[in-house]
Amino acid sequence: MRVLGIETSCDETGVAVYDSKLGLLADRLYSQVELHARYGGVVPELASRDHIRKGLPLIQEVLVAAETPLNALDGIAYTAGPGLVGALLVGASLGRSLGMALNIPTLGVHHMEGHLLAPMLEERPPAFPFVALLVSGGHTQLVRVDGIGRYRLLGESLDDAAGEAFDKVGKMLGLAYPGGPRVAALAESGTAGRFEFPRPMTNRPGLDFSFSGLKTYVRNTLAEEAGQSPGGEADDQTRADIARAFEDAVVQTLVIKCRRALQQTGLRSLVIAGGVSANKRLREGLQTMVEKERSQLFYAQPRFCTDNGAMIAYAGCQRLAAGERDDLSLNVKARWPLASLPPLGRPSV
Ligand code: KG4
Ligand code: ZN
Repeated sequence: MRVLGIETSCDETGVAVYDSKLGLLADRLYSQVELHARYGGVVPELASRDHIRKGLPLIQEVLVAAETPLNALDGIAYTAGPGLVGALLVGASLGRSLGMALNIPTLGVHHMEGHLLAPMLEERPPAFPFVALLVSGGHTQLVRVDGIGRYRLLGESLDDAAGEAFDKVGKMLGLAYPGGPRVAALAESGTAGRFEFPRPMTNRPGLDFSFSGLKTYVRNTLAEEAGQSPGGEADDQTRADIARAFEDAVVQTLVIKCRRALQQTGLRSLVIAGGVSANKRLREGLQTMVEKERSQLFYAQPRFCTDNGAMIAYAGCQRLAAGERDDLSLNVKARWPLASLPPLGRPSV
């Protein structure tokens, strides 16, 4: 089965063609980062308009790259949520109208299921069951995964998502949007241990997270250092040291909770997915931990950690091949709990 995937849930237009026998044939991504940069965050209306501009040309480009004429497609998958409703509607309308014109089935895919399954595109994919850490701009969740659509939420962030915390701290440090990769780059030249931030919620049982308090530590430390500096601003080295302390705190908190999730479930495989799973120090910290736990770590290559069309084409292909299809209504969802998804092949209610 050959499936076109379309991702438009936020500020990236991603398209891809996935074939159940041949694997990923081609993918294309257009990032709107520059469009939103001067506003310091994503402007939903601008995002929707740009998806409209970029959608069709990108689809045309990816079909050519995949040597797949329109009539060779067997199905179309698009992101149906969670995300920005206007942006989601663009991808959904494109997918649904193309599907109707070609008389092939379409399916709305859950964005986080896409992230969760992205490591399946790698040469060494994980086998079910496993523990998944989903860390993106909107979500921080630990999930027990027994198969596609068989998800049990083990814990989640009670406030900011890990990526959101990175982005907000990036703003405080004067870095451009999105802050995550930039905070990580700045932390590279930081001195570990000069500042020590807490590891929130690790000294009590449970698998939930809280990252919003770390922002306050960053803000207060920055203000203190600025107050002591003759120029009234924290110097470059201090900013790097603060970035390092913040990154270390987030990484270690995630490592502690992942270890706890492996121990509680007795599972030996950990999958990390979503934008923050591209973070080098997080990968290193988790790798060291899983080795001690005699477990294994799986993740996607960096370009498939952040939003992309390949993960939607892959997830959609699995579900379409199992017979799932859209009904007549066109539904996108701003919020959509992952654990509410049906097991593979069963229609959602
Ligand atoms: O999965 P994603 O592309 O979009 C959502 O579904 O939210 O994740 C984007 C998030 C942003 O918050 C971004 O700052 C963060 O992932 N991110 C990173 C890194 N790369 C992306 N955070 C920390 N370190 C990185 N290397
Ligand atoms: Zn995402």
